[in-house]
Amino acid sequence: AKPVRHIAVVGAGYVGGPTAAVIALHNPQIRVEVLDKDQRRVRRWNSPHLPIHESGLLDIVRVTRDGASLSPRENANGQAQVTLAERVPNLFFTTDSQTSLAKADMVLLAVNTPTKTFGIGAGRATNMTTFDAAVKEVALYTRPGTVIVEKSTVPCGTAQRVRQMLDAVRPEQPFEILSNPEFLSEGSAVRNLLQPDRVLIGSAKTPSGRRAADSLASVYAAWVPRSRILEIDAWSSELAKLVSNAMLAQRISSINSISAICDRTGADVDEIAKSAGLDPRIGPQFLKAGLGFGGSCFRKDIASLTYLAESLGLPEVAHYWSQVNSMNDWQRDRFAHKVIQRMEENLVGKKIAILGFAFKKNTGDTRESLAVDVIRVLLQERPGEIAIFDPCCLSEDIMRELEPILDTTTRDRVHVYPDAYQACEQANAVVIVNDSDPFKRSPGKKSRKSSGSAVIDTSSEQETKDIHIDGSRFSYQPCQSPICAEDCPDCQSTKTRGTISLEPVEWARIAYGMKEPKWAFDGRGVLDVPEMEKLGFRVDTLGRHTASRLTAF
Ligand code: NAD
Ligand code: UDX
Repeated sequence: AKPVRHIAVVGAGYVGGPTAAVIALHNPQIRVEVLDKDQRRVRRWNSPHLPIHESGLLDIVRVTRDGASLSPRENANGQAQVTLAERVPNLFFTTDSQTSLAKADMVLLAVNTPTKTFGIGAGRATNMTTFDAAVKEVALYTRPGTVIVEKSTVPCGTAQRVRQMLDAVRPEQPFEILSNPEFLSEGSAVRNLLQPDRVLIGSAKTPSGRRAADSLASVYAAWVPRSRILEIDAWSSELAKLVSNAMLAQRISSINSISAICDRTGADVDEIAKSAGLDPRIGPQFLKAGLGFGGSCFRKDIASLTYLAESLGLPEVAHYWSQVNSMNDWQRDRFAHKVIQRMEENLVGKKIAILGFAFKKNTGDTRESLAVDVIRVLLQERPGEIAIFDPCCLSEDIMRELEPILDTTTRDRVHVYPDAYQACEQANAVVIVNDSDPFKRSPGKKSRKSSGSAVIDTSSEQETKDIHIDGSRFSYQPCQSPICAEDCPDCQSTKTRGTISLEPVEWARIAYGMKEPKWAFDGRGVLDVPEMEKLGFRVDTLGRHTASRLTAF
């Protein structure tokens, strides 16, 4: 296969940015340019304050974008085995798509592919507007022979569609289109990219299709064992991505349906998940019952699978998968109504604290937050205040997400607080919406050091910083302004992010500040229920034992 020298990644988002950084890290001979239309996003990628927070990402970006010294390996006697080498920058972020695309041997399309909200297939089909616009740019500016890679999650058959689009603009010029779906999870993106379970490369089963697949495989082979790189056909690769997400989400909806039975019978859903998960054919992962799945992928990918089945004339298959999303909606609604019922169906004038806003811990991504729907239902009961705290989210991101559900009567009742204590002060109830580490610890116990310091920007004012990535040691000049503030000279961000604290909250202190009767509603199964009850909380959960249930059964 032809060696790859220039890669252009279109879309500097949660997938494009980290993927480009890891490819650049392991392929110093390849120049990786990441393009985005959003100038502000590009400016942040070029600053010490990246637009997304993922553990280890800043280190990799500093090494690849800014260059670093590659430290010598030492033998057993402590002697250097290789001489100190300079690492030349090979990762770039830019808005100049024309120049980057014109140089590229390979283009990775990592733009957003949301669900369509209008017209045919609204609510199910994928909105291809952004993706198609990116393909058009590729068609305009790339050289013949450039390999086009779908990194975005796209409907089955998209590779063929891209080929037709390119043929229309550039007839008789050869382009190969590959499917290379991404399986990273937010919060563990760098780990997932450095050690992927598998890399799927789907191509046309022609000699030139296979050659293109081999070129991409050689990029990954710089750090991924060959046995994990699967070369398959493009349709299977596109569909395999949707199926992986659908099956993961299906497990969550399955266990959540059981949590409802537990609530009616007194069985404990964690005991059931543990027992089922010990069967190696089932396995323990993705069986944590709770409010359900949020995030930008599961809902839309299941919707896309549903639409595919529908359009292939398979309504039973479409119905089967759509139930996974329906159960997810129902569980969230069930939880919000549980809160209202437990509080005597009267929230008027009461303060409800919402702990956790992002769809899961260790991410500041507020898209598809489960909290929005819970808050929407609670606001209908006219509470005095909804007080929100999430250790990883920015206040302005939270308020932007809530904007569609607020009106003149509710807007001034919703506030975001900088810590859990202020959010819970004088509250009647605390509602746990995500599994952030600070909410998890046993109440009353003095904080242990949190293991989840992952999302914190690690820059400090040392002269140089040594890091170890995949067995190599690098040193680089860390940033001098560790906190991104309004006046940050590097990225001119308008966002203010203080230091993210993942210290466990002291539930005794929270209990002290709350109004009687103190309610704690655990939507994620993170609380130590007996300990909370000792602190005077009335606790309710989704399918788990509480004092009142144990007495009843
Ligand atoms: P994102 O919204 O974070 O990033 C997409 C970026 O593309 C945005 O910054 C946008 O400005 C940019 N963009 C759009 N059109 C462009 C154009 N023509 N030229 C240049 N830039 C353009 O999205 P994301 O979360 O990174 O997801 C990207 C794709 O990856 C989606 O298809 C998603 O389903 C898939 N995916 C996401 C995840 C995840 O965890 N977020 C995981 C696996 C797969
Ligand atoms: C998911 C897939 O895991 C990843 O492979 C794919 O590339 C993108 O979509 P992500 O959405 O980032 O990743 O997070 P994930 O860890 O899968 O969690 C999704 C949602 O499910 C979260 O809201 C989480 O809280 C919830 N969840 C997860 C549960 O409710 N129970 C579980 O047992 C696991």
